[in-house]
Amino acid sequence: MEKMIDLRSDTLTKPSEGMRKAMYEAEVGDDVFKEDPTVNALEEFAAELLGKEAALFVTSGVMGNQLCLNVLSSPGDEVICEKDSHIFNYESGSPAALSGLQLSPIEGVNGVILPGQIEPLIRPANAYYMPRTKILTIENTHNRAGGTIQPLENIITLSALAKQHNLFFHLDGARIWNASVATGIPVKEYASHFDSVSCCLSKGLGAPVGSIIAGSKDFINEAYRVRKAWGGGMRQVGILAAAGLYALQHNIHRLKEDHVNAKYLAERINANPNLEINMEAVQTNILLFKPLKLSIEESIRRCKERGLLLSVGKIDLIRAVTHLDVSVEDIRKAADIIDDVFNEQYV
Ligand SMILES: Cc1ncc(COP(=O)(O)O)c(C=O)c1O
Repeated sequence: MEKMIDLRSDTLTKPSEGMRKAMYEAEVGDDVFKEDPTVNALEEFAAELLGKEAALFVTSGVMGNQLCLNVLSSPGDEVICEKDSHIFNYESGSPAALSGLQLSPIEGVNGVILPGQIEPLIRPANAYYMPRTKILTIENTHNRAGGTIQPLENIITLSALAKQHNLFFHLDGARIWNASVATGIPVKEYASHFDSVSCCLSKGLGAPVGSIIAGSKDFINEAYRVRKAWGGGMRQVGILAAAGLYALQHNIHRLKEDHVNAKYLAERINANPNLEINMEAVQTNILLFKPLKLSIEESIRRCKERGLLLSVGKIDLIRAVTHLDVSVEDIRKAADIIDDVFNEQYV
């Protein structure tokens, strides 16, 4: 059977031979005793890369975000976030369940919120009968908006606004590597404007598991305590940390190939009169497009029959994500399949 081209997500990558070798050869120890040399090396490397005092290896992006929110807040506090953000839509209500937090979502444009939209949501400091606004969070790149990049000038203005109102500023940087490679702005520069950052090793970077959170030493010490309380203290986990370290050392720069592939596919989709795509939002490795004459379900079914796996983005959009395990040939073939499915004669 011919291989399926799987564009459902960049989380689908399998560890490469080099990564598996690094995992096999990893020196390990008990990380709950802080004695796993590979975990320690990963955390030091990541802290340096992100320009923060300290970093912590955690199981997933959700755990990373939720640890950060927990450490920076108290129950009853409020967090301002974008309406399509991962934290608001895809983390199973855990800000409320794990930390007693209330979210205050606001609709951005392509995932980007502006200071003028946020200011009216910040609760007055003396209003004891209101929740306390404690954290402002943004997502870079923005997943549900289609991998869009937060403009640095806006981040800087939001950071100043957060400081002015005594809010912590958290970055869900699950795909910060994609933003950095696309813009040439170092991850360190992005991270410098936030109190806490969470970034994934298991998306475009190709590790099988894991995320990193980073911030001040005090922040990470507290996150270490909460991670253990939540059952996230792991033992000889250097085997997994080795994959993360390998990912950071080998797989960041190649993300540009994923971006080129995404752009190529977007252009082919844009040229098809039966499909609609917002080319402005095609900035990294995620594409969202709309079939004009077929339902989403039927579109996905017909593509699957021909060997191409796609997923549903927002309710009325198809999602395609390029990644490490998709070659230039695969992308050309995917574009041909899409053309075939959405050609006039089939619609
Ligand atoms: C922006 C963003 N944040 C957080 C996460 C959560 O990551 P994980 O699936 O590792 O929990 C994802 C996952 O897709 C994401 O896209």
